[in-house]
Amino acid sequence: MSDIESIIQQMTLEEKAALCTGAGPWTTTPILRLGVPELVVSDGPHGVRHPQDVSKIGSPSHPATCFPTASSLACTWDVDLLREMGKALAVEARALGVGVLLGPGNNIKRTPLCGRNFEYFSEDPYLAGELAASLIEGIQSQGVGTSLKHFAANNQEYQRFSINAEVDERTLREIYLAGFEKAVKKGQPWTVMCAYNRLNGPYCSEHHRLLVEILKEEWGFEGLVVSDWGAVHDRVAALKGGLDLEMPGPKASRVQAVIKAVQDGTLDEAVLDESVRRILKVVFKAAETPKGAAFDPQAHHALARKVAAEGMVLLKNNGILPLQSTLTRIAVIGRAAAEPHYQGGGSSHINPTMVAMPLEELKRQAANAELLYAEGYPADDQFRQDLIVQAASVARQADVALLYIALPSYKDSEGYDRADLDLTVQQVALIKAVADAQPNTVVILNNGSAVVMGDWLPQVAAVLEAWTMGQAGGGAIADVLFGKVNPGGKLAETFPLSLVDTPAYLNYPGENGTVRYGEGLFIGYRYYEAKQVPVQFPFGYGGSYTTFAYSHPTISAASFKDTDGLTVAVDVTNTGPVAGKEVVQVYVHDCKSALVRPPKELKGFAKVELQPGETQTVTIPLDFRAFAYYHPGYRQWITEDGDFDILIGASSADIRCQQTVTLHSTLSLPSLLTPESTIREWLDDPRGKVVFAPMLQQMMAGMNQFMGGDSDAHEMIGMDMMGMVLDMPLMAILHFQDAALPASPEDLVNGLLYQVHQLEP
Ligand code: BGC
Repeated sequence: MSDIESIIQQMTLEEKAALCTGAGPWTTTPILRLGVPELVVSDGPHGVRHPQDVSKIGSPSHPATCFPTASSLACTWDVDLLREMGKALAVEARALGVGVLLGPGNNIKRTPLCGRNFEYFSEDPYLAGELAASLIEGIQSQGVGTSLKHFAANNQEYQRFSINAEVDERTLREIYLAGFEKAVKKGQPWTVMCAYNRLNGPYCSEHHRLLVEILKEEWGFEGLVVSDWGAVHDRVAALKGGLDLEMPGPKASRVQAVIKAVQDGTLDEAVLDESVRRILKVVFKAAETPKGAAFDPQAHHALARKVAAEGMVLLKNNGILPLQSTLTRIAVIGRAAAEPHYQGGGSSHINPTMVAMPLEELKRQAANAELLYAEGYPADDQFRQDLIVQAASVARQADVALLYIALPSYKDSEGYDRADLDLTVQQVALIKAVADAQPNTVVILNNGSAVVMGDWLPQVAAVLEAWTMGQAGGGAIADVLFGKVNPGGKLAETFPLSLVDTPAYLNYPGENGTVRYGEGLFIGYRYYEAKQVPVQFPFGYGGSYTTFAYSHPTISAASFKDTDGLTVAVDVTNTGPVAGKEVVQVYVHDCKSALVRPPKELKGFAKVELQPGETQTVTIPLDFRAFAYYHPGYRQWITEDGDFDILIGASSADIRCQQTVTLHSTLSLPSLLTPESTIREWLDDPRGKVVFAPMLQQMMAGMNQFMGGDSDAHEMIGMDMMGMVLDMPLMAILHFQDAALPASPEDLVNGLLYQVHQLEP
C-alpha cells in the first residue's frame, strides 16, 4: 500500500473533512500527527502575490517580479519564452515558500469588454491552450504547482458569482473548453480552479459533468480541483460534483456538513476519500520542493523586459519607427510615461520588485536628444483642456511626439467589466491635438484588451500596442522604439472597429441571471470572417521593422488519413534590412461539413528568427484535432472525408499560401437516425440512404396521388414536391399515406432503422 493510502486509512472522518477545506486564506489544513504538511498557495498568474501574513486575506504581499500579463504574453506566440518565464515564476514561488501558484488564467476572450481580459490569453482556444501549457510546464518543471483557472466559461466579470453561462455543447467543447483541454493534457497542472459562475444550470463548483466526467475522466486530469475563492455554495454537493478543495478557510460549518453527510449516508465516504487522495498527492509533491533560496530580482526584471518587448505589437508604422539617433528633441506626452499602467487590478496585483519608468528608460537610450515631458491627461476621467494645450505646444517644439496612452487602471480590473472600448474623452482629444501639432506622432498603448481607435488612427504616424506590460515594460518600450528590439508580436485578439461589431454584442452581458452564448462558435476572427465584418486589426496581425516573404509551401501528403495528420512546411525569408522574428500561422478550412464550421481556424504556428536575407524552413505539424470538430450528436470529436484548405499566413487576414488536401476519416460512426429523422437526414446518412431509397420512390408516387394524381398539380400551386418533403420527418409523411401502407408507419420506420443498424460495422 502506498504511503498516501496508508495515511487515508489512518485519517479520522473529521480529519478528512478538514483537509478538504482550507485552514486559512492561502493554506490547506495540515495533519501533524500523520505528517501531512500544509500547502501554501498564492496568486498568480504573472507574478507571485505572496502575503506577508498568510493568515490574512488582505495582507500586503512580498515584493516579486511583475511579469507582463497574459494579454501581452499571448502576443509573443512564443512557447519557449513562456516556459522560461514559468521557470522564473517558480523560482520566486520557491523563494517565498509557495507550493502552488494560482494561474494561468485560460478563459477565452469572448468580448473585449471583459474586465479580466488582461489576465487571459486569447480569443482563440488553440493559441490559448498552447501558451497555457508551456507556462504550466515551465512552472512545474521547478517543482511548483499551478492552478489552471477559471474552469469554465468565466468570460465576463459582470455577475460572475451567479451568472449562468448558457453554452451549447459544441461551442463549449470547441471554444470554451478546448484551451483547457490542451493545457490539462499537455501541461498536467497540479490543480484546476473552478469558476464562480454557473454553466448550463449548475454552479461550476458543483458541476459533476464538468469536473468529473470531462476533466477527470475524459481528459485524465490527475490533480485536485480547487474552488475559486468563495465559489462553493453547498460543500457536500460540491464534493459530489468533483470539487476536492474548498478555499479559503477555515470554515467549521463546511467541515461539519461533510462529517454529517457521511454519517447520515448522503455522502459516500469513497467520494470524500477520492478528494482526500487528490489533495494529499499535491500536498506531498509540493513538500518535496526545497523552498527559501533567494532569487535574483535583476535577472528576472531583465527577463520580464525581454518578454514585454516580445509581446508588443506594432499596429501602425509609416516609417517613423524605429526612431533615428539623429533626433534632437523628443516630446514625451502622457502620464503613463511617468506612472506606467503595467498590470491589472484585483487578485493578480503584484507588489513589484522595481518598476522601469518609461520616461527614464527613454532618456537612457536617447542620449543625444532633449526630452520634453507633458502630462497630457489626468489619472481619472475628468476633461482638462489646459493639459491638452500644453501637450500640443510641447509636441510642436519637438521632432517627434511619443504619446503614452494608458487606459485608466480601474478599467482593467477583475470584478467588473468595461462599459465601452474607448479611451477617455481627454485621451482621444489629446491624441488628435498632438497629431495636429506634430505629424510625427507615435502612440504607445497600455491596456489589457482591445480599444477602438478609428477616431484618431489615421492621424498618427505609428501605434505600438504595449499591453499591461509588467514592471519592466518601460524599458521594453524604449527598446522597441529605438530599434534595439525589432517588434515581432502579433495580436492574439481582434481589434474591432467598434463595440457594436463585436461577436457577443447582442448576447452580452445577459439578463435574468443568464448569459446566452448565442453567437456559438463564431467568436473572435471566426465571427468577423464569417460575417465579413471589417475590423481595425485582425487576429494574428503585427508589424515589424523588416519584411518577410513566404515561399515553397509543401504539405507532406495530398491525401491522408486523419490519424496520420500532416506536416506543413514553408520557407520564410527575411527580405528587409534588419534581423526580425516572424510568426507563421496555419489555419484550416473544412470545404464541406455536415455541421457548420467557421471559415478558418488556427491549428498551428511557429515563431522564427531571421537575419537579413536569411531563409529558414518552418515546419508545423497538424494532427487529428486540426481537422476534427465536436459533434454533439455523437458526443465526440469527429472527422469527415473530404477536402480541407491549408492556409499559411502572416495573420488570419493575410494568407500567403494555400493548398487543398483530402482527408480520409478512419472513424466508423454509428447512424444518428431516429424515428423522428427527416427525409433529408435519411438521405444524408450513407446507410440510411441505401435502405430508404426504394421506399422514397414509392412515397413520391404516393404523394402524387395524394395531390390528386395530377402531375401538374404541384406546379400549379408553385411547389417543388421534393423541396417540400425534404425537411419533414419520414414518419409524418408516412402518416399521410397511412391507408395505402402495408404496415403502420411506426413499424415501417422501425424496420428501416433495424436494417440501418444491420449495416453498421
Ligand atoms: C480570483 C482568483 C484568485 C482568487 C484568490 C478570486 O477572486 O477569481 O483568480 O486566484 O481570488 O485570490
